[in-house]
Amino acid sequence: MEKHLKRNSFKGSLGFVLAAAGSAVGLGNIWRFPYLAAKDGGGLFLVLYIILALTFGFTLLTTEIAIGRKTKQSPLTAYGQFKKKWKWLGVVACLVPVIIMPYYCVIGGWVLKYFLAYLTGQGTALAADNYFTSFITSDIEPIVMLILFLGASAFVVFRGVNKGIESFSKVIMPALLLLVVAIAVFSLTLSHTDSNGATRTGLEGLKVYVIPDLSDLTVKSFFSTLLDAMGQLFFSLSVAMGIMITYGSYVRDDANLNKSINQIEIFDTVVAFLAGVMIIPAVYTFSGIEGMDASGPSLMFISLPKVFAAMGFAGNIVGCLFFAMVLFAALTSAVSVMEAVVSSLMDNFKLSRVKSASIEGIIALVVGILVCLGYNIMYFEASLPNGTTGQLLDIMDYISNNILMPIVAIGTCVLIGWIVKPKTIIDEVEKSGTKMGRKRLYTVMIKFVAPAMLVLLFLKSVGILTVI
Ligand code: PHE
Repeated sequence: MEKHLKRNSFKGSLGFVLAAAGSAVGLGNIWRFPYLAAKDGGGLFLVLYIILALTFGFTLLTTEIAIGRKTKQSPLTAYGQFKKKWKWLGVVACLVPVIIMPYYCVIGGWVLKYFLAYLTGQGTALAADNYFTSFITSDIEPIVMLILFLGASAFVVFRGVNKGIESFSKVIMPALLLLVVAIAVFSLTLSHTDSNGATRTGLEGLKVYVIPDLSDLTVKSFFSTLLDAMGQLFFSLSVAMGIMITYGSYVRDDANLNKSINQIEIFDTVVAFLAGVMIIPAVYTFSGIEGMDASGPSLMFISLPKVFAAMGFAGNIVGCLFFAMVLFAALTSAVSVMEAVVSSLMDNFKLSRVKSASIEGIIALVVGILVCLGYNIMYFEASLPNGTTGQLLDIMDYISNNILMPIVAIGTCVLIGWIVKPKTIIDEVEKSGTKMGRKRLYTVMIKFVAPAMLVLLFLKSVGILTVI
């Protein structure tokens, strides 16, 4: 019995910061942040993003980590500890990672496939038209890749908080940072003359990225940029999916939360920014400004392989390093999603880690296979309320990101801001004896500004708010 009562904890602050940053730095940093920055006229997006990170992001992240540390519970049971009637919020918060895990692993499998293909020197084939479509619609390979990626994530989770998540993050995250910096520097040295004789360089691409283009700024476009930055930040910090509550519950009471939260935000933002320095100059040099029109899978699996192929011999090596880096980013995020579910099952049903991880592993595997088949024998096209069409993966992504996550975040703001009261969180942050900075800001944000912003985001993501 003793064993169940003693909760694991991260050995040190560094382990916690790197694990949480590992969760935050994911596919979103790489395939969406640079695209939004380019689309929204460079610098303005970056400035708004940083301001939002220091206010809105700081509020949500602090709240979740403090809820975790105070209750020493994972999401499924944490919310109910404050008020029994609010247990439902924990159920929704736990449902989000249950839904995300299978399709995130399917995408992780695609990344693994590209990494292996570059490793074996198949860069030119990857750049061919239709390569990506024929791969994801094939019968067996996507499922094999899913199993390998899920297996690797499950292996880390099976090993537990210290021997698994903490040790893994301490190796992977510095390696990821190193790769990002190296590829970004390389990207800035690029130069290419196209068939029309026009020469473009990486440094010119950098200007497109960082210098604000305010030439056609209107009130409407400003708000649209603001909402883009907010949505991106919200997704990037891994809040509203139970993860930060789970990781927070493993933080020791004497650890300085203030400092750790700042470090997590800095890590996440720096990697997102550098992902832009990696991608925008390279795409600009070889495909011009129009090349930045793609985001998500089409940027990563279709546009970038073409850019790497245009680099000639170096392209295979850069492609290999790039996909190794993406693989690291995706793995640490998948580990965190799985841990949120596993930890919830352990806390709620008093199961062992092995049992909980096996259950979640099987759910992710079965649903993940269905997601793969969604491009194959189960292919269909569904229209989503925001006007796009998609397959099973897109439906699951839509439900979790556009519907459930905003509900969890709004619910958390109401519960903490108005029922539990912000002081509870502030006291938790200050428990280790350090003063919490931006206290007043936190209180105003959690009670008024954050919920209002989240409602706007929610209305936009379900397609009700279409003006901006
Ligand atoms: N924060 C991650 C990103 O930016 C998102 C994520 C984390 C998604 C964990 C799922 C699970 O990509």
